[in-house]
Amino acid sequence: RFTPRIFSGIQPSGGLTLGNYLGALKRFAELQGGEAETIYCIVDLHAITVWQDPEVLRARIREAAAAFMAAGVDPARSVLFNQSQVSAHAELAWLFNTVARVGWMYRMTQFKDKAGKNSENASLGLLAYPALMAADILAYRATAVPVGEDQKQHLELTRDIAAKFNHDYGVEHFPITQPLIEGVATRVMSLRDGSKKMSKSDPSDASRINLTDDADTIAQKIRKARTDADPLPGSMDGLKDRPEAKNLVNIYAALSDETPDQILSRFEGQGFGAFKPALAEVAVAALSPITAKMSELMSDPAEIDRILGDGADRAEAIARPILEETKDVMGL
Ligand code: ADP
Ligand code: NA
Repeated sequence: RFTPRIFSGIQPSGGLTLGNYLGALKRFAELQGGEAETIYCIVDLHAITVWQDPEVLRARIREAAAAFMAAGVDPARSVLFNQSQVSAHAELAWLFNTVARVGWMYRMTQFKDKAGKNSENASLGLLAYPALMAADILAYRATAVPVGEDQKQHLELTRDIAAKFNHDYGVEHFPITQPLIEGVATRVMSLRDGSKKMSKSDPSDASRINLTDDADTIAQKIRKARTDADPLPGSMDGLKDRPEAKNLVNIYAALSDETPDQILSRFEGQGFGAFKPALAEVAVAALSPITAKMSELMSDPAEIDRILGDGADRAEAIARPILEETKDVMGL
């Protein structure tokens, strides 16, 4: 009953990382040209759930747009836009605030992580974040959402909101969206702490590779990445209790399109002194064209704004009628 449609988004809350590239952007580009229409969004309304400097945010929105395009998202083949330019997102989020339950929100692990100990002092928006995310997805009746592992719980909440809406109003109005969590890099870990995901909002710059890092910086961060002193085994089975080592091999695999086991069969018995420079070489080869393309695109902010404006018009044309139908179902 629902037309296949793919939606996903990224927050402009910091410079984008290798985690965002492998877990999201690279997949977004690969999904273009299939049977499903692809709609990609810079989610600035999510970013402001934690305070952002306005001038910095303005720049990061354009930088995120450049990163999407540099990673291969083509605005002619996908709808690429900025969330706050399409008001249907905020309007539908309010409707979903009346569907979602407070208890659902308090259970979200990302809220607990980001709000910290003093959660009473977190913004109300940070708590309600998953209802806005549901609105982002369901404003397009998206049937599938490519995301990293960290977004799985939020996506389940989107499904819960769609199901409760359909149940409460007695209509099959929204699809039950499928998560697309695929590949070896659905959860790229911090280079400094194998138990934390790599994130643009981590205070330690050494914990992540930024898409704007130059070749020397990438090589240095990989050289300094936390690892153990043991030699590498011949297959992934041997890395069960070595999260840092496993992370680096997975990154290598995701960047090179070789499998982790193929890579390990070449490095069996060798230490990180041999592995890290090889990984750095692969990472620089994969990322430097993206970095170069990003800076070329960012040299023309007016063109980025034009592309985002055009994307917003196309997004609006899909989302507005769905919002109007939703209001109608609710008696508004
Ligand atoms: P961040 O945590 O860096 O702020 P976002 O919340 O904006 O990232 O997430 C944007 C997309 O990037 C999501 O699909 C998310 O799952 C993916 N993503 C973020 N960090 C990682 C990671 N370390 N590994 C894999 N995917 C990630
Ligand atoms: Na996230």
